[in-house]
Amino acid sequence: MLRGTGSSLPGRAFRNDQFPATLETSDEWIRTRTGIRERRIAGDDETTSTLGLAAARAALEASDLRPQDIDLVICATVAPDVAVPSVACRIQTGLGCRPIPAFDLNAACTGFVYALTVAEQFLGSGTCKHALVVGSDTLTRVVDFSDRSSCILFGDGAGAVVLSGVAAAGRGLRYSRLYADGNDIILLKGLGARPAPSVTGPPVTSLPVDYMTLNGREVFKFAVTRVRELVKEVLAACELRPEDIKLVVPHQVNQRILDAAFDGLGIPAEQVMVNLDRYGNTSAASVPIALDEAIRSGRARSGDTLLLLAFGGGMTWGATLLTL
Ligand code: ACO
Repeated sequence: MLRGTGSSLPGRAFRNDQFPATLETSDEWIRTRTGIRERRIAGDDETTSTLGLAAARAALEASDLRPQDIDLVICATVAPDVAVPSVACRIQTGLGCRPIPAFDLNAACTGFVYALTVAEQFLGSGTCKHALVVGSDTLTRVVDFSDRSSCILFGDGAGAVVLSGVAAAGRGLRYSRLYADGNDIILLKGLGARPAPSVTGPPVTSLPVDYMTLNGREVFKFAVTRVRELVKEVLAACELRPEDIKLVVPHQVNQRILDAAFDGLGIPAEQVMVNLDRYGNTSAASVPIALDEAIRSGRARSGDTLLLLAFGGGMTWGATLLTL
């Protein structure tokens, strides 16, 4: 069952009207095409690790557990400030946990839903009692701020949950579906894409800067189709009606994508948690940040059934049905 949630956002807010005139965009274009008004941008002293650690601390505090009680740490991220050690190891050390398994997981914006499902396997098998699952990303570090079709979309942040395997009738993760279908519609190269070393001549000193690239129109079509399929699949598999879901917590990508995806499915706008207007797309952090806000604001309460939905690079997509 879900014991506690937390989130952490960078202090610096960046409004649409703060993009430079040279970008040839406008607050009006960004708001009407995406629903985003502002996003948070991590400063020099804020990284995927520090934001993830702060979110983890908040989730731990909300769960009434101590760092020593945690048996597993998973961090979903595509923009780790450190590849080795993992961000999860940084979080484990920062919290002061015991020597427990800690690892990062990359399923792009679906990463948190993937990580929840993986943690649930450890809990269900009895391998661990309490798991910390974090989603943390700083995509503003990897987007090209001269590309108006991508840089306006993203923000930074982290969200976290503590899950316990303690049996509580009817509560906890009830159903999960994960998918992937590989292609380069969204592409972010990793460290292994650096040039091969010169083993006979002078060392290669200049490193290329590789920004994330995406085909927005393709992502739009993919997201709408997959979200619609997922909602129908989860409702059918769990024998639920749309009104049985108290709140849908989707990946915060674009208001138009969400409107199109839920149109005609019997899920009205007030049943969908949205905070992308303030934070933009925070990648693997978007679902846990929205979940934390839903719980702390009282929009989701104990006993409520929530549908968490995400999709992103890979391409990946997935859903989890959760009763609080
Ligand atoms: N400001 C002004 N004009 C712009 C901007 C901008 N920021 N960006 C694009 N335009 C222009 C385009 O150049 C195009 O001009 P043209 O008609 O002269 O060619 C016009 O606006 C329309 O472009 P479209 O791509 O058709 O605009 P669309 O309505 O599809 O919106 C958007 C673009 C916002 C990117 C949308 O497709 C979208 O949200 N897609 C999904 C976003 C995405 O990929 N997110 C990443 C998911 S992956 C992850 O979550 C990690």
